[in-house]
Amino acid sequence: MSVGWRGLKPGPSRREVLARCDVLSCCEGFSNGRTEWVTLNIIFRRLLWAQALDRRSRLLFYDGQMPANALPPEPPAQEWNSHRYAENARFVSDLGQAAFDLLNPQAGERILDLGCGDGALTEKITAAGAEVLGVDASADMVAAAKQRGIDARVMDAYSLNFNSEFDAVFSNAAMHWMKRDPDAVVPGVRRALKPGGRFAAEMGGHGCVAAITVALCATLEKYGVADPASLIPWYFPTADDYCERLERTGFQVEYIALIPRPTPLPTGMRGWLETFAIPFTNSVAEEGRAAFLDAVTERLRPALCDEKGRWTADYMRLRFLARVAG
Ligand code: BEZ
Repeated sequence: MSVGWRGLKPGPSRREVLARCDVLSCCEGFSNGRTEWVTLNIIFRRLLWAQALDRRSRLLFYDGQMPANALPPEPPAQEWNSHRYAENARFVSDLGQAAFDLLNPQAGERILDLGCGDGALTEKITAAGAEVLGVDASADMVAAAKQRGIDARVMDAYSLNFNSEFDAVFSNAAMHWMKRDPDAVVPGVRRALKPGGRFAAEMGGHGCVAAITVALCATLEKYGVADPASLIPWYFPTADDYCERLERTGFQVEYIALIPRPTPLPTGMRGWLETFAIPFTNSVAEEGRAAFLDAVTERLRPALCDEKGRWTADYMRLRFLARVAG
């Protein structure tokens, strides 16, 4: 049954889209007449796109049954706990100096920190004299950032709603969690920037935590979990892949590099797994989780633990600076 409407002038807001359609499952007849099964986020982005181009588009929404394979798989949820993060992952912001240097924040600039986490680096950017807004998908992390006195909001990186407001967008160790739809993130950043604005970021890059990922998947196979690779919650692009995405969106890439950065883990592999590998661990019955983490740790010991018992994670970083044509 169709519950759609025609024409997009003036365009509906996200709230209106939600109000009009209880179950959005199909978008038909967009641009080239294809019929596609799409998510609400994709429909909404297309509405914005159509508005931006000032096109009269015909969209029909159906509330019919959606086939099981219609939606792209959602990466399993990572849970964030600011206390656990502070205990096991303080090194993430401590090692953010290179990304910070690439940003080179100036006094008086307005900067968006995308995936600000608990705000440790946001605070540093503020200390440089910039006016910073932090956004993060985790309410717990945003609360921790606010405790530092940072202006922070819970926001979905796939639907950033800023328009030409920022001199720079910064992101450290966050964008590899935005796996569901990387192509939604970059245009949102682009829209948020003023003409000539810059995007300085670091994220996990191709090959990041490869040994850890293989150990997690191999151990889960032993636990009888089918297709453990589908649980991988991270997106680790190559420099070519990300450069293309940036250029396609209208950025000029001034610098991009994939950099191996073996990363010492102050609380060992167990602390890392308990903080970052939750989508894998949650696929094991609760009573078996400690043994599962022990098994993964033992698998990794020969590769990532030295003779003194010090653990190092096999991190690769993708670091870039891109600018909107002024
Ligand atoms: C990071 O915080 O940089 C990270 C987290 C999970 C996997 C790899 C990297």
